[in-house]
Amino acid sequence: MASNSAVIILLPFLLLLSPVAAHNITRILADFPDFSAFNQFLSQSSVAAEINRRQTITVLVVDNAAAAPLSSLDAETLKSVLSIHVILDYFDTYKIHNLRRRTTLFTTLYQTTGVAENNMGFLNFTHLPDDRLAFGSGVKGSPLTATYVKAVKAMPYNISVLQITGAVVPPGITDAPLAPFGAPITVAPEPLVPAPAPVDDSDADTPDADAPAADSPAPTADSPAPAADSPAPASGPAGDAPAPEEADEDDSSSAGRIAGSITAGLLTAVAGALML
Ligand SMILES: *[C@@H]1O[C@H](CO)[C@@H](O)[C@H](O)[C@H]1NC(C)=O
Ligand SMILES: *[C@@H]1O[C@H](CO)[C@@H](O)[C@H](O)[C@H]1NC(C)=O
Ligand SMILES: *[C@@H]1O[C@H](CO)[C@@H](O)[C@H](O)[C@H]1NC(C)=O
Repeated sequence: MASNSAVIILLPFLLLLSPVAAHNITRILADFPDFSAFNQFLSQSSVAAEINRRQTITVLVVDNAAAAPLSSLDAETLKSVLSIHVILDYFDTYKIHNLRRRTTLFTTLYQTTGVAENNMGFLNFTHLPDDRLAFGSGVKGSPLTATYVKAVKAMPYNISVLQITGAVVPPGITDAPLAPFGAPITVAPEPLVPAPAPVDDSDADTPDADAPAADSPAPTADSPAPAADSPAPASGPAGDAPAPEEADEDDSSSAGRIAGSITAGLLTAVAGALML
């Protein structure tokens, strides 16, 4: 009896606190036949359920042609690869075009699995000199292999869905040989006019090492990216685990995190009370 009344008293709180799925990635993508293959992969790998459980995320999707090679992956690798396409922060088209850093590492869902090694749980995001937004694996030395195509859906600040040209598959994620997943992005050899550094007020780029390197006729012509691309001083993801990226741009997500831990705390307390 005592515990019954506890439940009755607590029920409204439990209902209030239970995370109502505000979005359903399966349903969102169902409106876009171009992404039906990727949508199918998300469901079959159960990454879709994980996406729906989370808030403040960005899902990178690829069209059916670009998704086709994913079918060659075994189930476990597929799940890992898909998790790498879920960024644990909200980036809509405006935000992703206006990041202060030209290159940064995004933390992905795969990083939370605890099995990610060698920076595999991070995505390298690089705003190229020709203004394309490129993505690659966070594994050191891996090429950028995909670029931003368009925004598919934005539900601020819960979930953003962005299309990229191809899936990002980290080298070494599986021992099995991989189907080709997109050639490395080559950066236009002619850098743009030595633009008066548009938005870049950032601390990320070393102030003058940056400019000369970018504009010089690039002696190593075919290095995958403008070599000197700021070594991003000390932002090695190893350093401070969870969020190497844009700490000051995501008030929303830190608020979310705080709310999340408060919720978790309350639930623990409630669970404790019910045990009595
Ligand atoms: C999401 O939508 C799909 C398709 O409409 C549906 O089958 C599934 O049950 C939904 N998932 C949740 C958690 O509501
Ligand atoms: C992202 O990749 C490019 C090209 O490989 C590299 O120059 C850059 O340093 C990488 N960015 C980060 C933050 O690791
Ligand atoms: C985002 O999630 C919150 C909480 O679940 C919800 O109240 C809000 O309507 C959602 N926003 C959008 C644009 O769906």
